[in-house]
Amino acid sequence: MISKATIDTVFETARVEEVIGDFVQLKRAGSNFKGLSPFSDERSPSFMVSPAKGIWKDFSSGKGGNAIAFLMEHSHFTYPEAIRYLAKKYNIEIEETEQTDEEKANTDVRESMYLVSEFAKDYFHNTLLHSEEGKAIGLSYFKERGFTGETIKKFVLGYSPETWDALTKEALGKGYKLEFLESTGLTIPRDDRPFDRFKGRVMFPIQSMSGRILGFGGRILTNDKKAAKYLNSPESEIYHKSKVLYGIFQAKQSIAKENNCYLVEGYTDVIQFHQAGIENVVASSGTALTPDQIRLINRLTKNITVLFDGDAAGLRASIRGIDLILEEGMNVKVCAFPDGEDPDSFSKKTPYEELVKYLDENSKDFIQFKASMLMNEAKNDPIKKADLIRDMVVSISKIPDRIQREIYIQECSRIMDISEQVLVSTLAQLVQKDVTELGKKQKQEQKAFEVVKNEAPVEVRKVDILYGLERKIIEILLLYGNKTEEFEDILLKTNESGEIENVSEKKSYKVFQRIYLSLQEDEVELANPLFRDIYNNLIAYFHQNETFSIEQYLMHLNPDFAQEVTDILMADERVVLHNWEGQNIFPKTKNETISQYVSETILTLRWYLVDKIIEEIKSSISSEPDSNNIEPLSMAMDYSKLINSFSKKLGRVMSRYSN
Ligand code: CTP
Ligand code: MN
Repeated sequence: MISKATIDTVFETARVEEVIGDFVQLKRAGSNFKGLSPFSDERSPSFMVSPAKGIWKDFSSGKGGNAIAFLMEHSHFTYPEAIRYLAKKYNIEIEETEQTDEEKANTDVRESMYLVSEFAKDYFHNTLLHSEEGKAIGLSYFKERGFTGETIKKFVLGYSPETWDALTKEALGKGYKLEFLESTGLTIPRDDRPFDRFKGRVMFPIQSMSGRILGFGGRILTNDKKAAKYLNSPESEIYHKSKVLYGIFQAKQSIAKENNCYLVEGYTDVIQFHQAGIENVVASSGTALTPDQIRLINRLTKNITVLFDGDAAGLRASIRGIDLILEEGMNVKVCAFPDGEDPDSFSKKTPYEELVKYLDENSKDFIQFKASMLMNEAKNDPIKKADLIRDMVVSISKIPDRIQREIYIQECSRIMDISEQVLVSTLAQLVQKDVTELGKKQKQEQKAFEVVKNEAPVEVRKVDILYGLERKIIEILLLYGNKTEEFEDILLKTNESGEIENVSEKKSYKVFQRIYLSLQEDEVELANPLFRDIYNNLIAYFHQNETFSIEQYLMHLNPDFAQEVTDILMADERVVLHNWEGQNIFPKTKNETISQYVSETILTLRWYLVDKIIEEIKSSISSEPDSNNIEPLSMAMDYSKLINSFSKKLGRVMSRYSN
């Protein structure tokens, strides 16, 4: 584990503009920098970096965060990988926290296995490119398949000599331990003569998302029917077949950028696609797709297009895969190649434009695909048709999102010419546990819909105002939360002659305390769930930390909140981006004090929240003549009094502000 001290040093040292500047060309814009979004193709810059706040914001995709978030988003690093990257960039020595002996031993084992795999990758690659045997056998094989020198380098392809212990001997000579050669499967143990697993094969290194070597696939060069075409590294501490996707390292940028991932079967399909100019492609390496593999893609995009050859076996396997992908909440399309073609052969002989066009035109959503694939045989056979429909509904039932399920039900109904009702009831049987919930929700939705129909304009406006106010509260907390300000309290006091009067009293509070206490007083919570979470998180942070800096806070912020927080902090920077100063539009100068600004916002928010409560109470009051409405009525009256006091206070705050 990287020590907290190291992480803190990294955060203190790293400059967001320098980190991003390595990837995006940034130009100064006032106190900020701007550039072209690395997450979309655009001509005019919508990407902002604020050195002062230590954050960035991509207005075209909505993404944003600190330097670490950028590396995670852009280079798809994990958190520790991003920290290590920055430590390296800024020459910060990484201090590891104490591990238990067992942890240490495990890390050491894995590290040693990575190291020897790294060595083997270089050895195979160099042998392919520079040894006589490698060039004559391995390189000429790849060239024959049409792989360019560039492709061979990109995928670090290699050759393992036709000698029984070439790699093993070389590695031992370089000081690598036999133990790790064996645990990675590069060497097969035998008492007297340990020997190379991949002897005489061309080598495909299998890399992790961040480029580490996990294992290898080795292809045989002869047409020996008895020997396996591919030999792969065995399962090990570092290689879990079910958790890797071949080509993910080379594809990740493109997958994120294209917002789609092509899924193929084999190593050569991936490589040939790259060479054809399509880089967002990975292979499941000939096995059925696993949930772990799908989640790997899910980090980069929500969209998968499964590509497969015309043969029936592949088809069955990928149909199972489709349901798994749907279950992970992803969108799946399917594209079949003409008879006898696989992605490798097809992309090799098809020019780029035509290939793209083919993929576009032949990618179908899974309903259309199942229909077209199986319809021919099922067309005149009612039993088969029924099976097919059931099969589609099974797939639909895997989709977690209800709206999406509904859309697919409609499509299935249209394509298969069967009533939606029947499909819905079949679906309901399948999504058994959802059934009751579903019914309830439908009723609620109907109700909600009626309300909206009648009162749409008012409702919408209210929601907008409330949203704006809650957002302002978060903004205030972020910008001024830890500032001490004088606030005016209006208290009810009994004077000497026994009368009750309003007395105004000035008192110092930290801004966050003031906000917290005020909202607590009415027992109201922010309505927007995300704001509510951020609010609770911020308040807890203030309570725990004496000092507050936005950078410190962002450093430890849950990524779920980071985007919204960055959004709020960057809101004013947008002005710069659009060069509004040039058009003489200046932000309003705030001639009110922070304290006034805070009070005004809190009061208005409390007003709205309490108003909402009153409306809820009112709507719960029954119109039945003899029902007991006394309690809700008196509650509503109490709250109305509160509202009155708000408007009085607000009047005071506002009048002073306008003076
Ligand atoms: N595979 C394997 N072991 C085998 C056969 C196949 O691990 N004995 C895996 C490999 O990952 C291979 C994928 O399944 O890439 C697809 O198999 P196949 O289509 O037979 O191989 P290709 O990669 O297309 O190789 P080639 O074009 O050289 O035949
Ligand atoms: Mn193939």
